[in-house]
Amino acid sequence: MSEEIDMEAVQAYAGSVLGHMVGAATVICSDLAHKLGLFGHLAGSGGMSADALAEAAGTHPRLTRELLDQQASAGILAYDPGADIYELSDAGAMVMAEQHSPAWLAGGLGAVRAMYVGLDQVEAAFRGDGGVPWGDHHPCLFDGTLEFFRPCYEHHLVQEFIPALSGGEARVSTGAVVADVGCGAGLSTLTMAAAYPDSSFVGIDFHAPSIEMAEAAAEEQGLTNVTFEVESATSYKGSYDLVCFFDCMHDMGDPVGIAQHARSQLSDSGSVMLIEPFAFDTRSENHAGLGGAFYGFSSFFCTPCSLSQEVGRGMGAQAGEPGMRAVFEEAGYGTFGRISETPTNIVYEASA
Ligand SMILES: C[S@@+](CC[C@H](N)C(=O)[O-])C[C@H]1O[C@@H](n2cnc3c(N)ncnc32)[C@H](O)[C@@H]1O
Repeated sequence: MSEEIDMEAVQAYAGSVLGHMVGAATVICSDLAHKLGLFGHLAGSGGMSADALAEAAGTHPRLTRELLDQQASAGILAYDPGADIYELSDAGAMVMAEQHSPAWLAGGLGAVRAMYVGLDQVEAAFRGDGGVPWGDHHPCLFDGTLEFFRPCYEHHLVQEFIPALSGGEARVSTGAVVADVGCGAGLSTLTMAAAYPDSSFVGIDFHAPSIEMAEAAAEEQGLTNVTFEVESATSYKGSYDLVCFFDCMHDMGDPVGIAQHARSQLSDSGSVMLIEPFAFDTRSENHAGLGGAFYGFSSFFCTPCSLSQEVGRGMGAQAGEPGMRAVFEEAGYGTFGRISETPTNIVYEASA
């Protein structure tokens, strides 16, 4: 090894990679703990021994103890050595146990699981034409996607995004016809339908299993002002006062064609609401923080999905405002602007 090598730099670099390994192991272990229901039992319990938790959850006591020690070493749980119990703090419960909390994250860990499960087919895409259709992934991706975006849709969509549209909430609250294109399991569609019972909502996605999940949820919630269609983003028909795209346009092969199609289906006063993952304007600004997760999801899911479709623009999840503005300008829209944002998403409105 050359004398010029700075061993302190090597150690720091290796330490950083080891930190990522701990993070990766923690995500998978936390996902397992979530699937086993451990967080639900721990929340509000004041702490439980490994054996008591295993009995409550119906899990193997020895394996449960090992998993709890992993979670304690990563700071997901606290361990009280005197009482030999594991505790989930109230703050931790909001993140790991409460599905409808604004800080819910446990359900979205399934999207990372889908990366591991799908590694072989993504590797084949890297060596081949780059394409992996959305529907070829493990079902944990569809559920993980639904849960990852749940806090955003349940706590920001009706509260902030819709009121930020030109004309405000009044445009959507009564007698409006709204399309939610690329709706997946339909949480955004259902959230709007529940909030605005005097308007009607259509969720559209070309992935039939996701539409089945959406229809089942609509029936369970007893919503009668929402329907779902298995349809491509370039072939649905109607006259809509609002066409929405929630975290999906960058996944599509031909975003310009899809934006043009949306324009052709708008009513005279209609507009498009586009929700995209948060991104800064430049690549290097995105090389930090959440960019690590978004570029990861984009390498495995979003970009291969786009490349599997006609045109295959492959925008990626971090295209940001410059990328999205270019799409809507190419599609011939007269206006395009940012109307809202959260730490995870940017919302734009475009009109003809
Ligand atoms: C990341 S998921 C987002 C789903 C949902 N909007 C959400 O926010 O949870 C992307 C969705 O876009 C859909 N999709 C991708 N390309 C499509 C196309 N060309 N036509 C219709 N749906 C498409 C996929 O099936 C998938 O459900």
